[in-house]
Amino acid sequence: MNRMDVIEEADNSLWRYSAVLPEIPEKNKVTLGEGFTPLIPIENEWDVSLYIKDETQNPTGSFKDRGMALAVSMAKEQGVKAICLPSAGNAGIAAAAYCQEAGIECHVFLPETIPPEFVVLTKGYDAKIYLKGVSIAEAGQHMLKNKQPNWFDISTLKEPFRVEGKKTMGYEIAEQLDWILPDMVIYPTGGGTGLIGMWKAFNEIAGLGWAKGNLPRMVAVQSSACAPVAVAFEAGETDTEFWNTDNTQALGLNVPGPIGGGWMLNTLRESEGTAISVNEEDIEPATVKINTRTGINASLEAGVVWLGLKKLINSNWIQEDSTVVVPITGVER
Ligand SMILES: Cc1ncc(COP(=O)(O)O)c(C=O)c1O
Repeated sequence: MNRMDVIEEADNSLWRYSAVLPEIPEKNKVTLGEGFTPLIPIENEWDVSLYIKDETQNPTGSFKDRGMALAVSMAKEQGVKAICLPSAGNAGIAAAAYCQEAGIECHVFLPETIPPEFVVLTKGYDAKIYLKGVSIAEAGQHMLKNKQPNWFDISTLKEPFRVEGKKTMGYEIAEQLDWILPDMVIYPTGGGTGLIGMWKAFNEIAGLGWAKGNLPRMVAVQSSACAPVAVAFEAGETDTEFWNTDNTQALGLNVPGPIGGGWMLNTLRESEGTAISVNEEDIEPATVKINTRTGINASLEAGVVWLGLKKLINSNWIQEDSTVVVPITGVER
């Protein structure tokens, strides 16, 4: 498959890569114009070629729109009438928006500690909201107790299409770097669909013969207040252990028992990447810094990746002249 023949260059959304996505008839594509977000070079003091992928530009303000565009389109294609999911916040907003567009009922289970802005936005898209617990783990248990038989479950990694949507971030990064893959992608990791999706994309791109250079090393960054992946990686484990000591304010990363823990660890090792945690107290000031530097109004996950980037540069894991991509995954609500 020649990339020049199949990428729909006039389409400035993730659907430009329809040729490598699950087949969905045009009439069932649910789209709000998601994807093909800017990749912005950032001047820096470390002699690395640093790029930020500004995912705040997505229709509901986060990269979750990519996964939901695909998952809800497939649900529509299959005649699903209602969907449900637990969410740390952004996925619920995205699911609600795409379901409203598709005319599908949406049931979103959130932690009761969620800031009110998330509730207002999710409700604004006509979703039904259920609040329980302090993390997505408890919200998910609450969902399992209350789930109706006709609700289709689109929880993280429970169906394949959210990953398919997220993988478009990898295709975009490759295309925007003129098909020379970056050396590293530094990713704020919670449930892991972004990490897993991008790794899938880079492998597909290599398999298709579209890219030059080696596959990127994938890096997961978490907060010290919720670091199941970083701790398991460091200990050489093959799966994560439930994190029940603390919660991070970087809400998208407050995932104590990721269902794809083992999958993420495999991805990190296969790509010769790494997983690290950064101090919870440092996240807010780091977010202010990266926002000032980039002019993006990003949420705390941006501070997490910024701190991770600095830590890896200081330890020489990232060396001079490397090309590094840092997704800024969501807007501050
Ligand atoms: C802004 C933001 N960044 C990162 C993440 C983590 O993403 P993933 O679940 O793909 O690891 C989330 C998840 O909710 C999020 O909302």
